[in-house]
Amino acid sequence: MTRPIDDLITVRDYLRYAATRFTEAGIYFGHGTDNPWDEAVLLVMRSLHLPLENNTLFLDARLIRDERQLILERIERRIHERTPAAYLVGEGWFMGLPFKVDERVLIPRSPLAELIQSGLQPWLADQDVQRVLDLCTGSGCIGIATATVFEDASVDLADISTDALDVAQSNIEFHELTDRVQVIHSDLFDSVAGQYDVIISNPPYVDAEDLAAMPEEFRHEPALGLAAGHDGLDIAHRILAEASDYLNPGGLLIVEVGNSWVALENAYPELPFTWLEFAHGGEGVFLLTAEDLLQWKQSKA
Ligand SMILES: C[S@@+](CC[C@H](N)C(=O)[O-])C[C@H]1O[C@@H](n2cnc3c(N)ncnc32)[C@H](O)[C@@H]1O
Repeated sequence: MTRPIDDLITVRDYLRYAATRFTEAGIYFGHGTDNPWDEAVLLVMRSLHLPLENNTLFLDARLIRDERQLILERIERRIHERTPAAYLVGEGWFMGLPFKVDERVLIPRSPLAELIQSGLQPWLADQDVQRVLDLCTGSGCIGIATATVFEDASVDLADISTDALDVAQSNIEFHELTDRVQVIHSDLFDSVAGQYDVIISNPPYVDAEDLAAMPEEFRHEPALGLAAGHDGLDIAHRILAEASDYLNPGGLLIVEVGNSWVALENAYPELPFTWLEFAHGGEGVFLLTAEDLLQWKQSKA
């Protein structure tokens, strides 16, 4: 009987084999890729520490036995454990930047990348950005990407999970941003001080029904990063109640709530949410100005 390790020789062989196995197995995609081929490219190329793009030079290169073994083991784990490829290779991508990830943090995939890359245009106009808060930071991907766009800004990465903050800190160091990006251990705003020009957040927002129906792949992610009560709004309510105290005049609050956007709109009919649109997909991200939030708070007082 022949074995894959004897039959499969080149990088191209392993890419083809992984894509075929992933398709046959009917695994779920949604942790940075959306099809078997891209998942195969991520798993095979990054297991070999080769680039994801412009890599045709390597396709016919032969693998040594240890490399074959490693990739075959990871293909089996992807199928049988349903571990997302990003965890297997220890790396996720956000706004074209690599981030270290493991099962202590969510795998980066927020549509906010597109908005950050545009410099938060057209919402920011010509306002200066000196302080940014990434609330519920996980791997730190949102805050660190924001720091690369706003090169003079100081960026705080806040999370309630010390495990997540360890990963975020390693990503700050990896991106050489220790001089102006720092982690804060905080239950939402509890340990945050001062005012920010931008508060940006991808908090937990999955409602109980969606959580129960999630494919096996999501069970590898920290539940603390996903679950947010029966309607998915436990964290969003708290952010809305407090954000205006932490925003400078003209500041922006930008929060992803995914599928829970309908419940949020129904809960706050008097708040003038702007729901952002994304050319590369994604929905359920709102924007409010500091002034919107203040007016709303005063009208309730
Ligand atoms: C959906 S994950 C987002 C991670 C990251 N922002 C991203 O986009 O990949 C939500 C994060 O919120 C954190 N979290 C949950 N409850 C929190 C709270 N009360 N205060 C601060 N962070 C919280 C979790 O630990 C998790 O890292």
